[in-house]
Amino acid sequence: MITTNLTNLTPFLPDGWLTSRLSALDKARVMLEEGNGPGGSFTGWVHLPRDYDKEEFARIQAAAEKIRSDSQALVVIGIGGSYLGARAVVELLRSPNYNLIHTDGPEIHFAGNGLSTDGLMEIIDRVKDMDFSVNVISKSGTTTEPAVAFRIFKALLEEKYGKQGARERIYATTDAHRGALKGLADAEGYEEFVVPDAVGGRYSVLTAVGLRPIACAGVDIAALMQGAADAMNALAVPGADNPAWQYAAARHALYESGKKVELLVGYEPSFRFFAEWWKQLYGESEGKQGKGLFPASVEFTADLHSMGQYIQQGERLMFETVVSFARSRRQIDIPVDPDNVDGLNFLAGKSLEYVAAQAMRGVTMAHVDGGVPNIGRTVPARDEAAAGWLIYFFEYACGLSGYLLEVNPFDQPGVEAYKNNMYALLGKPGYEEKKAELERRLNG
Ligand code: PA5
Repeated sequence: MITTNLTNLTPFLPDGWLTSRLSALDKARVMLEEGNGPGGSFTGWVHLPRDYDKEEFARIQAAAEKIRSDSQALVVIGIGGSYLGARAVVELLRSPNYNLIHTDGPEIHFAGNGLSTDGLMEIIDRVKDMDFSVNVISKSGTTTEPAVAFRIFKALLEEKYGKQGARERIYATTDAHRGALKGLADAEGYEEFVVPDAVGGRYSVLTAVGLRPIACAGVDIAALMQGAADAMNALAVPGADNPAWQYAAARHALYESGKKVELLVGYEPSFRFFAEWWKQLYGESEGKQGKGLFPASVEFTADLHSMGQYIQQGERLMFETVVSFARSRRQIDIPVDPDNVDGLNFLAGKSLEYVAAQAMRGVTMAHVDGGVPNIGRTVPARDEAAAGWLIYFFEYACGLSGYLLEVNPFDQPGVEAYKNNMYALLGKPGYEEKKAELERRLNG
């Protein structure tokens, strides 16, 4: 059972912060449920844990088994919503050091999530002499970063295995009907998986977009979906006790009280990429029309030695949402040192987990005393059920939050600006006028 602690939030908010928002939250609930609010055609994720395509789910599991038996590495090509969810879950449930410590299945490498030549070359160097497969993921099929990376890895596979052999090692996850990748996959005969029409990139981790790579890492995706389904059922119940309602109302009230930044705090290195996924989810959903909390993240205790000073005493513009795990997977005790030169014998025999728990209590109190409101969320274990629950919880609360803020939480018109400039500067046909204008400005 995931628990919420609002004790260190309520002193910062006026009475009625939740009750005054219940009616707006109920309207938001109905819009999500019925898909008739702004961006309603992209609410396919709301019932996904119940209504997902079971036939495709079985194909995902079968393809993962095949890759786990015939590949030493899997290269996952995608960016943004076609990348972050998969990496978040692989790191959370396996490890950020998965490729170093795994003893089963393929190494997993993420490519096409940027334009770094050196980053790409490192992956090529690593996999080129291994048996490897590729999962290219792009809903639009036209995003430059993954499209360029895919060209390169496709050529590498064809050189290594021939056209037919490569075909059997390429898996394409894309739109069911349209787009350049869809056309290519049809023409080449790649096995295809679908990004459903009604699910946008940042809400797609529980579709083939996330599930294919996650399954290849040996994660039990049925248990992950069950965790999400449990959250879906629990969070559909309206009322002030609903943790997603509480979270959305708290964020909105804090924003209205002048807070501008939400810090997602984790205490586990394995949570770092989950926070990256969360940042895209909230940043793209709310950051528009000159509004929205800026989503940022920190990893404690490491970042207490870098960002801690600002959080404690800098401008009072932030609040913290903390996700902590009740138990570590393994335990280690601090040993006795007969010389006690470091003076730490008072901790001898205590577990590292105990030390971390006291650190967290101390940090929370210090930050609250420093004027940083704190929303606590404790997760029983780092397992599939909890990950599925957390994913759905944050997605659902994000939809509610967007509607409270009166924005469309399911579009991202601002992402197009950089893309158009890049296409123009690269000389893409159709962008000639824009190119001339940009070159004039850039060259003074
Ligand atoms: O959330 C989004 O829509 C974006 O982050 C996209 O996922 C990202 O731009 C990649 O798009 P595509 O899957 O079309 O390549």
